[in-house]
Amino acid sequence: MDRRSILKAALLGTASLAAPSFSLARTPDGLFELTAGKGQGRLYGDAGGLSELWLYNDRLPGPEIRVKRGERVRVLFKNTLDEPTSVHWHGIRIDNAMDGVAGLTQPPVQPGESFEYDFVAPDAGTYWYHAHTMSWNQVPRGLAGPLIVEDEKPHFPVKRDITLFLSDWRLDDKGLLETASFGAMHDFAHAGRLGNWLTINGQSMPDIPLQQGRWHRLRLINASASRVLDLAPDRFGAQVIGLDGQAFSAPREISGTLQLAPAQRMDLIVRPEKTGTLPFEMMTGKPFTFARFQVTETDSEDLQLTLPPANDLEEPDLSFARELPLVMAGGAMGGMRSLMRDGVSLNPREMMEAGLFWAFNGSAGMEDTPFFTANQGETIVLESRNDTAFPHAIHLHGHHFRVLERNGVKLDHQDWRDTFTTVPEETVKIAFVADNPGKWLLHCHMLGHSASGMMNWFEVS
Ligand code: C2O
Ligand code: CU
Ligand code: CU
Repeated sequence: MDRRSILKAALLGTASLAAPSFSLARTPDGLFELTAGKGQGRLYGDAGGLSELWLYNDRLPGPEIRVKRGERVRVLFKNTLDEPTSVHWHGIRIDNAMDGVAGLTQPPVQPGESFEYDFVAPDAGTYWYHAHTMSWNQVPRGLAGPLIVEDEKPHFPVKRDITLFLSDWRLDDKGLLETASFGAMHDFAHAGRLGNWLTINGQSMPDIPLQQGRWHRLRLINASASRVLDLAPDRFGAQVIGLDGQAFSAPREISGTLQLAPAQRMDLIVRPEKTGTLPFEMMTGKPFTFARFQVTETDSEDLQLTLPPANDLEEPDLSFARELPLVMAGGAMGGMRSLMRDGVSLNPREMMEAGLFWAFNGSAGMEDTPFFTANQGETIVLESRNDTAFPHAIHLHGHHFRVLERNGVKLDHQDWRDTFTTVPEETVKIAFVADNPGKWLLHCHMLGHSASGMMNWFEVS
């Protein structure tokens, strides 16, 4: 948070009890009905006034969609906005036709039109859904919500399985969503659209109820357009049990900060020893409290802690892998002199006019031919290098990958992820089995970056 901002931490004392995330019920036909439309919401507490937002089912965040692993999910989506949109199911190893990428996997859903998403969720875990048409504009106005895939049997009682949907907002001095700077080229060429306020499940500084001496599962989702959240779960006694929806084999104590980049998720377990208040802080600069855990006594029964089992993902076979480079370049202070767009070289003035500031391997944006083509079942190793002055959060659609190395050093935990972070001058090696046929995006999840060049696609045939 920018603590120099006019907003400061003025909300102390006006805290609200965090509403549990709202689960969407199915219709008698087994459908989820999801409607995108204009709405309003209070981002800056009760004092803040009503901001004009774009919402799913008139809720902030969108309603939680909860299904079981392996279940068929049918969502009847309706667009009542004034502009086209589509819905992407982030992190789901989905049937390509249901991936929600307008222009690649489906035509955009026009105003007044509907689309039925129909897919199977093969992996349990914490996921989310969000608009995938002009995402840089639609997501930070509110078009996002949680998608939770449960194991066959639930591991935590409902009250102790808590979704925390974290969203960064840029508010003006009245505490209203600032809209004049949407699409600002300056943001796109720098760190992206950063906000100055954070909401949790759509609320400012909520109190999150926890029970003393009982195990809880916290499902953190960073839905911010560009804000990397520096968290320190050990400061409130939590351990990490999974990332990006994929469960670890054992809980992990992490000391110091752990970054949650845009689109990433982190699953925690916590059993508070004492009653009272535990701050939930952001560790950028001085610790900044954005929510509070309120721990109370309870007479409910404790449970035997059993952790969710890992999903069944195919292991990359490194001895038969195809290695491909992924060089990120461009942006302010990046010194990029030219980039390729559809086979044509653009100079800095032309880049500026086209609103393209970033490139993967020298080319910007979606091209007619894929970035690479993989045969189904082939192991791909991407060797990424960040030649820019900014961090990025690179996401692959339709697949999860293992993060193997950073700066040439093999990682102790080669975790599965769908979005990996990279800082300036860093090299990161990832590997995955290209086992899901179709056309898949590969992009930076800092949404202004993907809109201005950091987006391409690959094909699995
Ligand atoms: Cu969260 Cu291309 O998506
Ligand atoms: Cu995705
Ligand atoms: Cu980026």
